[in-house]
Amino acid sequence: MYVKFAATLPGKLAVAIEKSNHIMAEELLRESGFLLPQTENSKQFLLSLLEKDQLQGFPRETVEMLLGKYEKSQEEKLMSEKTTTYDNLMTAFTGESEANRKYTAYAEKAEKDGFTNAAKLFRAAADAETIHAISHFKVAGKVGTTAENLKDGVEGETYEYTSMYPPFVEQAEAEGNSQAVRSFTYALKAEEVHAGLYQEALDNLDSDAEEIFYYLCPVCGNIEKFVPDKCKICGVPGDKFIKY
Ligand SMILES: [Fe+2]
Ligand SMILES: [Fe+2]
Repeated sequence: MYVKFAATLPGKLAVAIEKSNHIMAEELLRESGFLLPQTENSKQFLLSLLEKDQLQGFPRETVEMLLGKYEKSQEEKLMSEKTTTYDNLMTAFTGESEANRKYTAYAEKAEKDGFTNAAKLFRAAADAETIHAISHFKVAGKVGTTAENLKDGVEGETYEYTSMYPPFVEQAEAEGNSQAVRSFTYALKAEEVHAGLYQEALDNLDSDAEEIFYYLCPVCGNIEKFVPDKCKICGVPGDKFIKY
C-alpha cells in the first residue's frame, strides 16, 4: 500500500507527501485489519488482487496476511457459534468415526473367514465413513494449525491415560473381565507414550527438521522412534512393528 515514490522527488513538498502517504498507509493497514476480512466480497477482492500481475512494490504479503485474517475470523465465527448445526456436525462426526472402526473390524473378520467380497465392501464403506467424518469435522471448524492440533493431541491423550482409563481398568478388574483389563491397560500405557510424542513434536515443530520415522506396535498401539527388540508394553517382537 505504501510506496516510497515521493522520496525520488526533490523538495519539502515531496517529504510532506511521503510522510502523509506513510500515515495514510498505516491508517489503511490498521482499518483494514478490522474491516476488510469480514465479508465474502472483500475476500473476493483480495483474491482478485493476488491473481493479477501487480506493479513492483505491491504489498502481496499484506494481502495474504489479510486473507489469513479472513479465514481465521470465519473459523472463529463457526467455533463460537454453538448452533444446533455445529452440535449436529459433531454428533455426525462421532457416529461416522465409530462406523469407520466398526466396519474395519467387520472387514478383518470377513477376510479371516474368506468372505472376500464382503470384506471389500466393508473396507470401501469404512473409507466412505472416514470421508464423511473428516468433512463434518472440518466444517465444524475443528482443524487448527498443526501446533494447535498437536496441543489438542497432548490434551486428548493425557485425559485418556490420566482420567479416563484408570477407573475403566479398576472396574474391569472388579468385574473379573481380564480381556477388558488388558485392552484398557494396553491403551492406557500407549496413550501415555502418544502424549509424550505429541509434546516432543510440538516442542520441535519445524518443517525443515530432520525426518523422523515412527514404529507402531500392531497389538497394543505403542509407538517407538526405533525398532525395539520387543514391545515394552505388550512384548510383541520388534519385527512386527509397522513403520511410518
Ligand atoms: Fe493415543
Ligand atoms: Fe505393543
